[in-house]
Amino acid sequence: MHLFQTIVGLRAYLGRYWRKRAIGFVPTMGALHQGHQRLLEMAREDNDIVVASIFVNPLQFAPTEDLDQYPRTLEADRQLCDRLGIDAVFAPSVTEMGTSGEIGENLTRVLPPASMMSGLCGASRPGHFLGVATIVVKLLQIVQPTRAYFGEKDAQQLAIIRRLVKDLCLPVEIRPCAIARENSGLAYSSRNQYLSPSQRQQATVLFRSLQKARESFQSGEVQGQILLDIITRELAGENNVRVEYVECVHPMTLEPLKMIKESGLLAIAARVGETRLIDNVILRQRQPIIAIDGPAGVGKSTAAKRIARQLGHIYLDTGAMYRALTWLVLEAGVSVEDEAAIAELAARSSIQFLQPEGEDNQKVYINDQDVTEIIRSPEVTANVSAVAKHPAVRHHLVEQQRHWGEKGGLVAEGRDIGTHVFPDAEVKIFLTASVSERARRRLQDLKDRGYGLVFQEELEAQIRERDRLDSTRKMAPLRQASDAIEVQTDGLTIEQVIQEILQCCP
Ligand code: PAJ
Repeated sequence: MHLFQTIVGLRAYLGRYWRKRAIGFVPTMGALHQGHQRLLEMAREDNDIVVASIFVNPLQFAPTEDLDQYPRTLEADRQLCDRLGIDAVFAPSVTEMGTSGEIGENLTRVLPPASMMSGLCGASRPGHFLGVATIVVKLLQIVQPTRAYFGEKDAQQLAIIRRLVKDLCLPVEIRPCAIARENSGLAYSSRNQYLSPSQRQQATVLFRSLQKARESFQSGEVQGQILLDIITRELAGENNVRVEYVECVHPMTLEPLKMIKESGLLAIAARVGETRLIDNVILRQRQPIIAIDGPAGVGKSTAAKRIARQLGHIYLDTGAMYRALTWLVLEAGVSVEDEAAIAELAARSSIQFLQPEGEDNQKVYINDQDVTEIIRSPEVTANVSAVAKHPAVRHHLVEQQRHWGEKGGLVAEGRDIGTHVFPDAEVKIFLTASVSERARRRLQDLKDRGYGLVFQEELEAQIRERDRLDSTRKMAPLRQASDAIEVQTDGLTIEQVIQEILQCCP
């Protein structure tokens, strides 16, 4: 008999009976454009199976809104999904979804917190987010995905869905996706189809005004009202744009903000002709996150440690986190194979890093105990990969890393830091070197340590095999983020590598 006090632990236990493949899910209302495409591509990269749904949900349209007029282009959408390698499109009828009834009357409803629905779009679209929440929960129940993808374009929707997933403990990871824009800055939207060419031009003022506010924030302005005034003034310059709201709120709680302390969402809704458009930017007052990814043996950890010290940031030593947890597992007498018990331990523990003044190395604590030295013991070394291989462990530790990331001021290295752990990192570096260079360095290292009889060719073959395994592994595969800066280190000393990276840092 098992006893679990944490949700993470219980789920890790049930996980072995649940599905074994990662399912990605992208809910949409169809008329797919490049914004949707971005979500679909992200989902395709992260998962084994990808499902897209296309359903124009009547529950989220008021009687006065454009439900009947909403563009429906199923055949083109189906072809796009096919080209993107999507495994299944779910395009149910209203009857199939059982959404023809009156919500709340003869249809169960999912009611998000009133405080999150009263402002922004909720003010002029009462009932809209009730309809969204109800259908999204229903779709999540049908598909039961591992991850579901939502655009930051609909920032209020994203915040509400994150909140309801948290409040209802829905077993899905919500992945946000940055706003995709045309070259003009106009955010892609299914409703852009309603715009005439001149309205399309006028609509670009939304993003222009947000950019002006962002520039002002970047030069130090944190007063919400002043940033809102900048936007309002810019919007007023375009006669055919009628503003519905301009607000400054917290991106997670949606509470109005007088001052942006850590992060703020500036959001606009406006009508261009009869077409209602929304847009937003997220402003962050955090110190930068520097994500360094790359294959094994390119000097990522040496570079990351030294850059962190030089910039006064924390070096997010993910290896030390797995080691600290492994130490705890061994201390508690838990088997390294018992994923559920380990997940339970992980969920009830807290890991901290501390950089003592004037010292070279930072300290590692788990549950307030200094484990800096002991986690390097042969016993921990021998068991760490057995602990780290459990998906529940990695999932939990990535959550913890993201939580630290909220404040910024971190340097992290690995294989998927810029693509998975911190996709919104301010600086993404992909450190690389040719196989022959890495073999040469390794050979030198072995010689320095007194191992003589090794051949360069043999090392090259090992490195190629390791690269292959690293980029095809299920958990945390090696990937270069599309917005990462590639640093080729062939022929460079570690000092030169560090200089190159520092030049990319703000
Ligand atoms: P829809 O408007 O079709 O949008 C589907 C998803 O695409 C949403 O998560 C939305 O935020 C995202 N998206 C739209 N335009 C985007 C852009 N320019 N950049 C990035 N992402 C973008 O949102 C809905 O449908 C519905 O409310 C739904 C969640 C499907 C529930 O019915």
